[in-house]
Amino acid sequence: MTEQENRKASNHWRSSIGFIAAAAGSAVGLGNIWKFPYITGQNGGGTFVLFYLLCIVILGLPIMVAEVMIGRTTQSSPVRAFQRLSAPNSGWQVVGMLGVFAGILILSFYSIVAGWGLHYLFLSIVGGFPQGNNPQAYTDLFDSLVQSVRLNIWWHSLFMGITIVVVLRGIRGGIEKFANWGMLALLILLGGLAVYGATLPGFLPAVKFLFAFSDNFTWKSALEALGHAFFSLSLGIGVMLTYGSYLQRHDDVVGTSIAIAIADTIVAIGACLVLFPIAFSVGLEPSAGPGLIFINIPLALLQLPWGRIGLLVFFVLLLLAALTSAVSLLEMAVSFLIDSLGWSRTLAASTMGGFIYLLGIPSALSGGSGFFGAGLKQLIGMSWFDAADYLSSNWLLPLGGIGISLFIGWRLNPQLRTLEFQDGSRLGSKSGLYSGWLLVVRWLSPIVIVLVMLYNLGFF
Ligand code: PHE
Repeated sequence: MTEQENRKASNHWRSSIGFIAAAAGSAVGLGNIWKFPYITGQNGGGTFVLFYLLCIVILGLPIMVAEVMIGRTTQSSPVRAFQRLSAPNSGWQVVGMLGVFAGILILSFYSIVAGWGLHYLFLSIVGGFPQGNNPQAYTDLFDSLVQSVRLNIWWHSLFMGITIVVVLRGIRGGIEKFANWGMLALLILLGGLAVYGATLPGFLPAVKFLFAFSDNFTWKSALEALGHAFFSLSLGIGVMLTYGSYLQRHDDVVGTSIAIAIADTIVAIGACLVLFPIAFSVGLEPSAGPGLIFINIPLALLQLPWGRIGLLVFFVLLLLAALTSAVSLLEMAVSFLIDSLGWSRTLAASTMGGFIYLLGIPSALSGGSGFFGAGLKQLIGMSWFDAADYLSSNWLLPLGGIGISLFIGWRLNPQLRTLEFQDGSRLGSKSGLYSGWLLVVRWLSPIVIVLVMLYNLGFF
């Protein structure tokens, strides 16, 4: 593996903290701050949270270890990584290709939601929110944003522009630096907001909602928790593999993966501890769905003391989280072009960034009355945006998860697998941990994911 060991120093993280910040930055995103609170709200709280945590520990973490490990071992982007560990033309490279495709698709609609965040940040700065306790006005404000072609395209352009600039600057000078500062700022802002949340009258009911057993937990909730655990940890599409490929050969995989999963979970729970007290304090239910942070939260916060500053801080936080995730998605696709086609970073980042930008335009038009919005809804029951989200979250991510598990569990040379698991990690050297991990990647994870997919197809 001499060629692999020769990867240039500038193509490695400067420190393992840098890797953890970048990977946690990828994991912590709209999934934690926008989606987790609203699905927790919709699924009744406590039991859903507990089940989600189990999914993270039992299934998510082992797959994260597998992905980071493949990256570190091969020092390659997703497609090349599978080729290297099997054969140049092996079918396993399809797992990598699927990942690249999924990453491109996810970023194309992720950028639209992040764009809504940018618009709300702008409104928080200029003070453009409706006056008083007027829920309808807040709903109208959000609806008109979702429907506006001009605003969606404008904010999408800005968000993708920033993402491309960070990736153009490379691993050390761009992604790692941005992640180090971004994650630090994010934790400080989240801590500040959590303290604020703890002073509100809705704090205790919120804690109870989050941690007490609840009764409206169903099969569907369980599957939603599992799917979201994957999405939230950025698993199944080769993003963690790509970031793992910038580790040094003997960096700790198991320990750093645990740190990343912990950071991701703290932010998801933290976001609930910020949002639910705000909602409860003005008598709103947390089950509002996707509009929770765009309708209920501004409505509630602006009625509370210090609300305007709180709102501004919240949207800065949301954007930091979204940007570090978007950067990881673009980097994965860019590393494929650099590694498999030999392109320069500048060419790869601008071409891939431009392509994803264009692919995002139908999503930007999905709230409108044209073909990509109302037209497709009539034809297939979903707008372009909904279809992209559905396809990637419900199919591509889980499929990638199965592919990675099966590859590591059954195809990879057993000696290499043991060696790589233990290399550089004190925890990884504990033999019980290794056998447990192997059991999960070989059996548990493929079986559970197939069950989820069958359920999605309407089999049970
Ligand atoms: N984990 C990110 C989030 O929670 C989304 C993401 C998924 C990023 C897959 C990269 C890869 O928002």
